[in-house]
Amino acid sequence: MKAVICTKYGPPEVLQLREIPKPAPKKDEVCIRICATAVTASDIVIRSSRLPLRFWLPMRLALGLTKPRKPVIGMVLAGVVESIGQGITRFQVGDPVYGVTGFGLGAYAEYTCMKETDSMYGCLAHKPRQIGYEEATAAAYGGLLALQRIEEGNLQPGHKVVIYGASGTSGTIAVQLAKARGAEVTAICSTRHLAFVESLGADRVIDYMDENASPTAERYDLMLDTAGKAKSSKLKEACRKALRGNGKFISIDDGKLELSSRRLNAIAELIDAGKIKPIVDRVYPLERIAEAHAYVESGHKRGGVAVTIEMGS
Ligand SMILES: NC(=O)c1ccc[n+]([C@@H]2O[C@H](COP(=O)([O-])OP(=O)(O)OC[C@H]3O[C@@H](n4cnc5c(N)ncnc54)[C@H](OP(=O)(O)O)[C@@H]3O)[C@@H](O)[C@H]2O)c1
Repeated sequence: MKAVICTKYGPPEVLQLREIPKPAPKKDEVCIRICATAVTASDIVIRSSRLPLRFWLPMRLALGLTKPRKPVIGMVLAGVVESIGQGITRFQVGDPVYGVTGFGLGAYAEYTCMKETDSMYGCLAHKPRQIGYEEATAAAYGGLLALQRIEEGNLQPGHKVVIYGASGTSGTIAVQLAKARGAEVTAICSTRHLAFVESLGADRVIDYMDENASPTAERYDLMLDTAGKAKSSKLKEACRKALRGNGKFISIDDGKLELSSRRLNAIAELIDAGKIKPIVDRVYPLERIAEAHAYVESGHKRGGVAVTIEMGS
């Protein structure tokens, strides 16, 4: 089968298209024909190994000291169940599925095998019916990140929430999830994304690039930082100070992303009910995945970046 392997840590060009053996499912695994994967912020970190010093050694120990131990990287997939082991109960051959492979990686390929149970090696669910495979990759990654934090924040109808970094994969879904829960949403993004983020349903949008921007006179119940701790501005700090006394600040970088098929099912239900729509900025073919990495690394995408995997491409 075709796969993109990460030959060593480095720039996007370390990614190479190769022919490698197709995997076969074990008793407790499904084999998925991957129709689309995504290039995420996490993939950039894995490929480049550009990490703050304190994370460098733990990450290298987990992923491979001198080069990735699992050369086929990629954490997000949407596809069709191609074959199943005897112990599989949740899926049948032909089921459209979507999920995140976590430390299992392996999504930059025509096929991969995963367990049907949740673990640090992935979570899998039936794909939302109303969207394509490319959009399903944004739903899996952005949806899991956003829903986990919204649940942790215990967001309730009528709450005032500020979403910082509202134009990214998780931010675009966080804005829609918060509206679906009946919250009042202030969304923060760069100048060029203001109208787009407003179109997602935000009640108010503020430009973090505007030196004079202020968090308005609101007191917020919750601030969700979907951009991550490395991305900041004067406005981010001002919003944090505008939290109510018992208001919470939650960053997408606080603790681990939980790989949860319960949350994937909840996201699929919301998508099929028309309550949220995952956003895909660009779609690349597998052969041009290095270009997708360079684009994501530029830091200002709108929603997710997907990669289509054609059979025999
Ligand atoms: N905790 C975990 O286990 C875990 C796992 C996976 C990912 N993550 C984190 O999740 C984050 C979010 O991933 P994502 O794919 O949703 O995000 P993303 O799409 O990579 O980036 C989010 C947005 O940040 C905005 N941005 C750039 N600089 C900014 C700044 N200074 N202030 C505010 N916004 C800025 C960009 O939009 P504009 O052009 O509008 O600025 C971009 O669209 C990743 O960065 C990663 O750190 C955490």
